[in-house]
Amino acid sequence: MEPRPASLSRLTMAQVIMPEHTNPSGIMHGGELFKIMDNAAGVVATRHCSSPNILTASVDSLVFKESIRAANLVLCDAEVIYTGTSSIALHVTAVVEKIITRETKPAAEGYWFMVAVDKKGRPIPIPPLIIETAEQEERKIDALHRLKRLKQL
Ligand SMILES: CC(C)(COP(=O)(O)OP(=O)(O)OC[C@H]1O[C@@H](n2cnc3c(N)ncnc32)[C@H](O)[C@@H]1OP(=O)(O)O)[C@@H](O)C(=O)NCCC(=O)NCCS
Repeated sequence: MEPRPASLSRLTMAQVIMPEHTNPSGIMHGGELFKIMDNAAGVVATRHCSSPNILTASVDSLVFKESIRAANLVLCDAEVIYTGTSSIALHVTAVVEKIITRETKPAAEGYWFMVAVDKKGRPIPIPPLIIETAEQEERKIDALHRLKRLKQL
């Protein structure tokens, strides 16, 4: 399979936060933010693998850093950092933007591990990732450490 760089699949997704995304205190539900991040990871993994069936196997170190209120914009960035035979790891970050002032703050960060499967749910091979920079190599090694730990759970 033809190897691919992360730049080919990288994505930033934007969503305006509405009152229905928040709890009675007016703060965005963590589950709603997770869903946006999961969608971004899924699109990037689908792009990289050119495969329609991508399953989330695990999520590591999801950290919520900043509360988000309605009428703000969430910008979610996902990038491939590692590929195995059928598995793919993505670094996903979310920032919150005050739309009027354009002020941004980091809102959340996590590591998604997904697996490409066929119609029967069996893992299938995916294109390898081309590592282009020293930073990408560091992220790949970090993903490998995380994967090793996750598989021991
Ligand atoms: C993810 C899933 C397909 C893995 O199936 P499996 O039979 O355990 O597959 P295997 O042991 O053959 O491993 C296949 C790949 O998945 C990876 N994997 C398996 N469990 C994993 C986990 N918990 N975290 C990260 N990667 C995992 C393996 O490392 C392997 O990667 P490789 O091919 O790059 O070496 C299976 O557990 C599953 O279907 N889970 C449910 C997924 C789901 O419904 N998610 C929510 C909706 S998207």
